[in-house]
Amino acid sequence: MRVLVIGNGGREHALCWAIAGSPLVTRLWCAPGNAGIAEEAECVALASDDISGLISFVKENAVEFVVIGPEATLVAGLGDNLQDIGVKYFGPNQAAANLEGSKGFMKDFCARHNIPTAAYGRFKDAASARNFANSLGAPIVVKADGLAAGKGVVIADTIKEANSAIEEMLEQGLFGKAGSEIIIEEFLQGEEASFFALCDGKTALPLASAQDHKRVGEGDTGPNTGGMGAYSPAPIVSEKIAIRIMSEIIEPTMKGMASEGTPFKGILYAGLMINEGGAKLLEYNVRFGDPECQALMMRLKSDILPALIASHDGVLDGFDLRWYEEAAMIVVMAAKGYPRSYKGGSVIKMAYPSAHYDNVKIFHAGTLRNGNGDLVANGGRVLGVAAMGDDIAAAHKNAYQALDDIEWPEGFFRRDIGWRVIKN
Ligand code: AMP
Ligand code: GLY
Repeated sequence: MRVLVIGNGGREHALCWAIAGSPLVTRLWCAPGNAGIAEEAECVALASDDISGLISFVKENAVEFVVIGPEATLVAGLGDNLQDIGVKYFGPNQAAANLEGSKGFMKDFCARHNIPTAAYGRFKDAASARNFANSLGAPIVVKADGLAAGKGVVIADTIKEANSAIEEMLEQGLFGKAGSEIIIEEFLQGEEASFFALCDGKTALPLASAQDHKRVGEGDTGPNTGGMGAYSPAPIVSEKIAIRIMSEIIEPTMKGMASEGTPFKGILYAGLMINEGGAKLLEYNVRFGDPECQALMMRLKSDILPALIASHDGVLDGFDLRWYEEAAMIVVMAAKGYPRSYKGGSVIKMAYPSAHYDNVKIFHAGTLRNGNGDLVANGGRVLGVAAMGDDIAAAHKNAYQALDDIEWPEGFFRRDIGWRVIKN
């Protein structure tokens, strides 16, 4: 099978790595890829939002299966374009990707199908938004409706903060069109976790749970990032909670999307708040998380490609995926300054290639090779060091040992990934 993966992050490196190991693959491309992906796949110089360029490439190269990594490409409807030319792909079509593409759509959908989530209102007008925020009281959450690269959520500790977020989004156009409508919602207490299910429009196959660290600084402080590290499984997602997540959240979503004529295929990634009362949905993502995907791919024992194809073909019922019992952790190395401004081009020296380690894999996110063949930083999140271990603490030890073999003075990483679990 001739396969094309879309994207250039650590998530896509992990997907390419897993797919490259499938005996079904005859040729593997990645658009646009990165320096690490170049070791698993042929990189194609096409941006992940260049829909017409990607469609031409697929036609010219007789690509048979396309795996779409980033949400923006899904929300832009690459799937629908592939459908039109009769090429199979992994991920939701544009209508189903709305579960991530519009938080207002997602909230209304949950209300229609009794899926537990925070109380909310949708607003285009700042005065009504302020009134609603006032009536709900602080702390309170203000969210841009559309995709805002993980920056569109403000947790306001006071009504004053909520009012300035409302003003920035609705009146100053901070997020452009993505923030021309906002959601204001109740602040939920508890512990956050992520839950992943592979869906084929009718059936949802639970994959695994994970937890990530969104804040840039140790102790979970500082501004939000795309994710500074993650581990799987998440101990808070007990077997009992996992069963409830499937029956109260994932399955009603599958049924609801199908009954509304927009069946969901691909990865349903539920961001959850868990407390004594059970789990409530914070948000849906319609793709693998980055860096959670890297941890999941470390733990996956089965060939991933047949599972991705089964998701497209609607034949996941009875499908069986095998996982390693061990835990996995990934620690992200980012360029100093991230998530604010940072410089590219600094040289990264690795004492050993990934293959040197038994239970470690180094995934690239923002990297490229310069004219001398050196590995250089080319982004905010640059590398991820993923490791397996008998438990989270062992995976943590293995990941940090390998991190010490990487010399990159212009980069940084958090020393405390997994602290919540390791502390216990
Ligand atoms: P999102 O971009 O929707 O994942 O939101 C970013 C982060 O904001 C989440 O990971 C949570 O930590 C937090 N968050 C979002 N919605 C709520 C809520 N209703 N209550 C508490 N925290 C929230
Ligand atoms: N790690 C969070 C995300 O991929 O959205």
